[in-house]
Amino acid sequence: MRSPDLARAVDLPRSFTAWALAHGLQRSLIQRGARKGDLISRMVMDPALRLDPFPAYEELRGRGVISANDLISASVDHAVCNEVLRSDAFGTAGGQGELPKPLQWLHHKVIDPDTLGPVDPPSMLAVDPPLHTRYRKQVARAFTARKVGRMGDRVSDVAGDLLDDLAGVEDFDLVERYASQLPVTVIADLLGVPEHDRGRLLALGNEAAVTLDPGLSWRQFRRAEVALREMHTWFRGHVERLREDPGDDLISQLILLDGPDRLDPVELHQVGLLVLAAGFETTVNLIGNAVAMLDGHPDQLRFLQENPDGWGNAVDEVLRHQSPVQLTLRIALRRTEVAGKVFEPGHGILLYLGGANRDPAVFANPAAFDVTRANADQHLAFSAGVHFCLGASLARLEAAVALRALYERHPDLHVAGRAERRGTRVLRGFERLPVRTTARVPG
Ligand code: HEM
Repeated sequence: MRSPDLARAVDLPRSFTAWALAHGLQRSLIQRGARKGDLISRMVMDPALRLDPFPAYEELRGRGVISANDLISASVDHAVCNEVLRSDAFGTAGGQGELPKPLQWLHHKVIDPDTLGPVDPPSMLAVDPPLHTRYRKQVARAFTARKVGRMGDRVSDVAGDLLDDLAGVEDFDLVERYASQLPVTVIADLLGVPEHDRGRLLALGNEAAVTLDPGLSWRQFRRAEVALREMHTWFRGHVERLREDPGDDLISQLILLDGPDRLDPVELHQVGLLVLAAGFETTVNLIGNAVAMLDGHPDQLRFLQENPDGWGNAVDEVLRHQSPVQLTLRIALRRTEVAGKVFEPGHGILLYLGGANRDPAVFANPAAFDVTRANADQHLAFSAGVHFCLGASLARLEAAVALRALYERHPDLHVAGRAERRGTRVLRGFERLPVRTTARVPG
């Protein structure tokens, strides 16, 4: 057997080729554009715009409903984003749609299945119908409104246990101790993940999350690859355990599928790991973003404390105002026209969900945060069309329960210390959000 170091060294050329095709070429073109001041390239590359992308969205909006550079189009327009996401003339094109066909083929050849990330096919997020329909049908069964509705008590219990663990603690990192723990516990239950594996998976997911971003550096890519490899190794062991001793979790159901529905091992990994990672890598941002926004708007927090039925709408307003997934990409599958612009096959469009959610044509005074906004739920934070977030009702439930329980237990909770944003561009949230409370002991 090869030692891990030798295996890594042997894999280096393959890994480098995979990086060059998926990110390297793109990165050098985007960097060149950004140096020339091209707005779309800056939106993809400029670190300042990662922290605060909103002024750039407004600049783009000022140029029209769709803007383009030599490589790609982009939109922050609600109607355009909605139309493209729902259109069968656009697809995800296997995550590498911007590459010419021969390079896409080469990428599929060189990529190691044990380092496939959430936007690499055959992830559900990266394939189009009919393959997408086949995967989605299997997973959707676990997330019907009825099933999610029945999870309310379990989510409340998880929130209660986490808050009990914090009893007497006055200063803590909200992300580490609460916002990340609640979703990982809930999704781990759904996927049969043992309790002792959850902490490690959280850390790995956090390192791999950057693979959602375009134009990664070689260093970022390598670090994420190491995390992804460990996740795949863990998942293989998890599948073996469940094959021997199936439970009533989603992964056991997927393993037991038979006939044409049966998933091959690579499909099973991609579907399972996507649901796992999507389950905890996004809701953590929603909860953290909510606490940060409410901290800046104490009058609105007071309103919610007095009117707890308002938490559901408040969650939608956070999703709109601080969208945890800021952007996605679609590629034209055939010649088509949107808002008067012709898209040739293979032409891509960056859809800034976080910008569409501040479109003044849909949301009055869109930059204002207002937990009572009547049409807050018209946001595109969960996307639209065939890839509409499968976990949307679960995420809404988790966030509303988590926030209500947090502020019931700690009415005076406030941000205290330097909050740190995540280093990701597609995902918007906090790495660290230090908070302080007077730590009332329950009872
Ligand atoms: C605040 C929390 C969440 C946000 C903002 C969010 C956002 C999104 C978005 C924007 C997409 C579609 C991306 C695209 O169209 O390219 C998506 C897809 C997906 N989400 Fe979520 N998500 C959240 C929570 C969850 C949770 C809790 C789960 C699972 C339990 C989940 C599972 C999925 C899955 C499986 C897909 C792929 C669906 C498909 O391709 O058909 N998400 N999510």
